[in-house]
Amino acid sequence: MSSALSRRRFLGTSLGLAAAAAAGPHLLGQDKPTLPTVPADPLFAPETLFLTWQGDPTTTMTIQWVGKAADEPYISYNNRGKDEWTVGPLAAKKPFPFIEYLFWPGVSGPTDHSVFRAELTGLSPGAEYEFKIGLNSPKYRFRTMPAKATKAFSFISGGDCGVNSHALANNVIAAKQDPMFVLIGGDLGYDNGTSGKTAYEFIRNYSKTMIDTQGRLIPLVTCIGNHEVRGSYNKTLKEATFFTPLFGGLYKETSYTTLDFGDYLSLVLLDTGHAAPIAGEQTEWLDKTLADRAGRPHLIAVNHVPCYPSYRASEGKLGTFGTGEQQRKHWVPLFEKHQVDIVLEHHDHTFKRTHPLKGGVVDDKTGIVYLGDGSWGKLRIPKPAEQRPYLDAVSATYHLTLHRLEGEKRYHMAMDEFGKVLDITATGKKPRHRD
Ligand SMILES: [Fe+2]
Ligand SMILES: [Fe+2]
Repeated sequence: MSSALSRRRFLGTSLGLAAAAAAGPHLLGQDKPTLPTVPADPLFAPETLFLTWQGDPTTTMTIQWVGKAADEPYISYNNRGKDEWTVGPLAAKKPFPFIEYLFWPGVSGPTDHSVFRAELTGLSPGAEYEFKIGLNSPKYRFRTMPAKATKAFSFISGGDCGVNSHALANNVIAAKQDPMFVLIGGDLGYDNGTSGKTAYEFIRNYSKTMIDTQGRLIPLVTCIGNHEVRGSYNKTLKEATFFTPLFGGLYKETSYTTLDFGDYLSLVLLDTGHAAPIAGEQTEWLDKTLADRAGRPHLIAVNHVPCYPSYRASEGKLGTFGTGEQQRKHWVPLFEKHQVDIVLEHHDHTFKRTHPLKGGVVDDKTGIVYLGDGSWGKLRIPKPAEQRPYLDAVSATYHLTLHRLEGEKRYHMAMDEFGKVLDITATGKKPRHRD
């Protein structure tokens, strides 16, 4: 700690004591004022502290919490390999690391909270860092992603969590795998854009449980689902009452975006009609976005509503769209044109893996596997594969998937809430082509 900070801390404490004594309790008829009790060295350790990204995960990290400000809410951080602490300035004094304050809408639940966000940039890839918030915080730790995918690494995906005991059990199993990050493909806490209490609880559960076996915090990446939005479909980011302040660092203007990990992994995070229409602008953006990333070793699309559902009806009736129908019309041809490596999807609350599909039929050579269906903490009985020829494996099991990326190969292992392996599949490089 620098001497300037030590002095500020000392002054702050002394002045605080003097001010408190002056204004302290002075009961009528009592000669001597009672001295206030000052807590000894209170730790600033918000129960909702979590990490996410809004920039390249090889060189940045975004630190967030929901709650109140630290007394001196700057971040200090240290590359553990170099042992040089960098101390940021006080909040709102730019430059670095600037802490943004975002309003936490008190529709229900905590009303006096804000979302605090600080992005660390210019970090070394493939390094381990520690950081503190203000003067009086525990040391937290994280890893940056490697610059190149020369060594194997893993991440976890799933969706449809909620805040029940199954969701918590899956959090614990996820953290035990030491993933570089966790990707939740929509329907996080089921706050429905109206329950601040639920949104808070989801983040608190994540914060408490998503610490790996070495004590490092595991970053969270999300995409939007119907339960993030007041009204579920055909709304805007404004109705994504809690998702927007929590993840707006990444979703700055649109509810769909990409997260590029160096030049080796791109997550294309889509909005299946909740805060942006599927057809039109988003589809045009998707075409260009995939074309721009055609050379990546790992190009992964993520959506909430599945293109190939395992529970809901895929065909509509009486003029309504079936589940995934618009995506099959607008997005699947683009996934195939640009040879997306795998599509992660959710919303139907089962475990499912499709055959490799091209145009909806099995194509083992160039088809794309659609994996997931979202049962981190919610469950339904899937339709049997006999009724849906595109399905290869289904199960009514709470689950998450561990993805291991090795060079240009990928292994996908679905596990239940007790860590039992449900399914393993591999996907490899497919030939890509431009127009
Ligand atoms: Fe769901
Ligand atoms: Fe959903």
